[in-house]
Amino acid sequence: MNHLISSNQKTVGLWAVALLMTTAFSFSTVAKDAKTTVVKTLSNAQQIELLTKKFKKGKYSKKGADSCLKCHDGESDRDGTQIFVGRHGALADASGPMGQLQCESCHGPVGKHDKRPRKGKQREPMLSFDKNSALNAEQKNSVCLTCHDNDHTRMGWLGSEHESNDIACVDCHILHVEKDPILSKVQQNDVCTSCHTKQKIELHKRSSHPLKFDRQVCTDCHNPHDSTNDASLKADSINENCLSCHSEKQGPKLWEHEPVIEDCSICHAPHGANNAMLLKKRVPQLCQECHSSVGHSSAAYVNANGNKVQGKSCLNCHSKIHGSNSPDGNLFQH
Ligand code: HEC
Ligand code: HEC
Ligand code: HEC
Ligand code: HEC
Ligand code: HEC
Ligand code: HEC
Ligand code: HEC
Ligand code: HEC
Ligand code: HEC
Ligand code: HEC
Repeated sequence: MNHLISSNQKTVGLWAVALLMTTAFSFSTVAKDAKTTVVKTLSNAQQIELLTKKFKKGKYSKKGADSCLKCHDGESDRDGTQIFVGRHGALADASGPMGQLQCESCHGPVGKHDKRPRKGKQREPMLSFDKNSALNAEQKNSVCLTCHDNDHTRMGWLGSEHESNDIACVDCHILHVEKDPILSKVQQNDVCTSCHTKQKIELHKRSSHPLKFDRQVCTDCHNPHDSTNDASLKADSINENCLSCHSEKQGPKLWEHEPVIEDCSICHAPHGANNAMLLKKRVPQLCQECHSSVGHSSAAYVNANGNKVQGKSCLNCHSKIHGSNSPDGNLFQH
């Protein structure tokens, strides 16, 4: 294989900065790789110390990816080659890793990692993004943000709900694949609901948005990188979100129903509900939250013909519940 490395070797500066600024590391795990009894594995804290030193020294490999692939080839159980089928493997892209430090743009300088470890010692670690990694979310993210900071879609990342809750980019994204599952319409909902179990339950309720059939994805409504709007919605408000698809409910109408203008989610659950039409409560209870049960609305209404109203209850008569444009629609009957 040809040498992939470019002459222009930049250092991954942000990592080191974030590392020095972060005071609290998690010291939780000890020897996690205890397969071989002779090898003493480093604690997370020791690994971080070592990685920090490595970054200061900044010893990058001369042959870039080629030197890594000697060991991390398709035969290895730690295969590195799959990066080349994904977006980050594009060789011609100067702004991508392959136009820069290649594998080491993300995994840090090789240092002594490619040297055989001394007897009884662990191989010098690289930055790892997997579950057993010694790095916390902020440290992992600092690597990605060296390139993805100026991207307009990530402007809101810092301070976002996910960032504030120590979620890492790589908790959602996988890079050594051709197609990152979270970027796929068919798989995204599964990735999101692996953490958001409440929403997972909701979208299997009696009525729901068509999320479970993959006709809709979470990011039709949400921006996972940004929490500028309530509930990290893409739209400025809940109503703008709903109306972006249900434009027929858009006002102004001659006769408006106040709660409809205020907030669709007063009556509707966005992900799913045990009642039809995503309603949070059944009619008439839903209506009676606000409308006094004194007078005709308290019990089954008997109309002029003496017929009791059943089934759709209040909606039998007040069917234009989202407002009416009819001149005599003030009671939402027409
Ligand atoms: C001489 C063989 C060899 C070379 C060259 C090599 N590695 Fe490794 N690498 C290994 C072995 C073996 C492991 C597993 C270490 C362990 O289990 O403790 C490993 C583990 C890793 C890991 C997992 C995290 C860790 O520290 O355990 C990453 C990431 C990694 N290597 C990246 C790279 C990159 C990037 C390069 C090129 C700059 C590279 N490696 C070069 C042998 C090598
Ligand atoms: C050396 C720079 C660099 C680093 C480091 C980097 N990326 Fe990227 N990334 C890019 C470039 C360039 C693209 C292509 C951008 C485009 O198409 O607009 C990209 C694209 C992506 C995409 C879109 C992929 C697709 O298939 O469309 C995702 C997701 C992504 N990066 C996540 C990450 C994550 C997570 C990390 C950290 C583990 C990371 N990146 C680290 C440069 C980088
Ligand atoms: C909660 C899950 C989640 C987290 C955490 C996350 N992303 Fe994403 N990311 C997504 C989803 C979903 C998309 C697809 C966006 C869409 O369809 O609107 C995406 C898209 C992207 C894209 C490519 C498409 C674009 O909009 O340009 C890049 C690049 C990216 N993310 C980088 C990052 C980086 C860097 C981080 C960490 C700082 C990060 N992401 C954290 C879920 C996440
Ligand atoms: C854009 C950043 C990026 C680049 C470039 C990159 N990797 Fe990775 N690597 C990751 C992330 C993130 C993971 C976690 C698994 C995943 O996302 O697929 C990973 C996982 C790995 C692993 C599995 C072990 C572990 O601890 O995570 C190895 C080994 C590895 N990469 C080696 C390489 C090699 C070799 C190259 C160059 C040929 C390379 N990587 C290029 C980001 C990158
Ligand atoms: C690794 C776990 C994890 C994954 C994967 C994940 N989230 Fe989250 N998400 C969280 C945590 C933790 C919070 C903050 C606490 C909470 O609200 O549950 C959160 C919060 C949110 C919020 C509330 C934001 C706010 O401003 O109130 C939304 C919306 C959200 N996530 C959507 C998504 C979407 C969409 C995806 C998939 C693209 C996703 N999440 C993937 C863990 C995750
Ligand atoms: C049709 C639009 C829409 C879709 C699709 C959607 N959401 Fe939401 N989501 C909302 C609205 C509106 C809110 C705010 C109102 C509320 O909390 O009831 C919200 C709130 C949330 C919250 C915060 C609620 C809380 O209890 O703190 C999370 C987390 C969330 N959504 C996750 C998801 C996930 C995960 C998916 C995909 C499985 C998803 N959403 C799909 C519209 C949507
Ligand atoms: C991204 C587009 C989109 C957004 C945003 C959206 N919806 Fe929907 N909504 C749909 C689709 C698609 C259906 C299913 C229609 C079908 O099956 O024919 C639907 C169905 C519904 C239904 C009927 C459910 C049933 O059981 O038949 C209600 C009620 C509803 N949406 C309310 C809302 C509310 C309230 C909001 C805002 C929180 C909202 N929608 C946001 C696309 C959207
Ligand atoms: C006061 C309670 C209430 C509010 C607020 C409300 N709705 Fe509804 N909505 C209902 C009821 C009740 C139904 C069921 C109507 C039926 O069964 O005939 C319904 C049905 C729907 C339906 C599916 C049937 C249809 O008419 O298309 C959609 C879509 C919908 N609402 C969207 C919205 C949107 C968008 C908003 C906010 C702009 C909103 N709703 C606000 C009570 C409400
Ligand atoms: C969150 C509170 C709320 C809910 C829930 C609600 N409404 Fe209303 N409704 C109002 C308010 C406020 C008005 C305006 C009252 C006024 O102007 O005196 C109104 C007006 C009305 C009117 C017009 C009568 C008038 O005095 O203007 C009718 C009819 C009505 N609602 C029926 C219903 C029905 C049927 C339901 C259930 C599907 C329902 N409402 C649910 C708050 C609510
Ligand atoms: C059989 C038709 C019918 C049914 C069913 C019905 N209404 Fe009415 N509603 C009317 C008519 C006609 C008026 C105007 C005359 C009146 O005040 O009785 C009215 C007036 C109202 C008003 C405005 C005046 C007032 O009484 O405050 C509200 C609010 C209202 N209805 C809510 C409800 C609710 C809530 C339900 C269900 C529990 C309901 N209605 C069921 C026909 C009906």
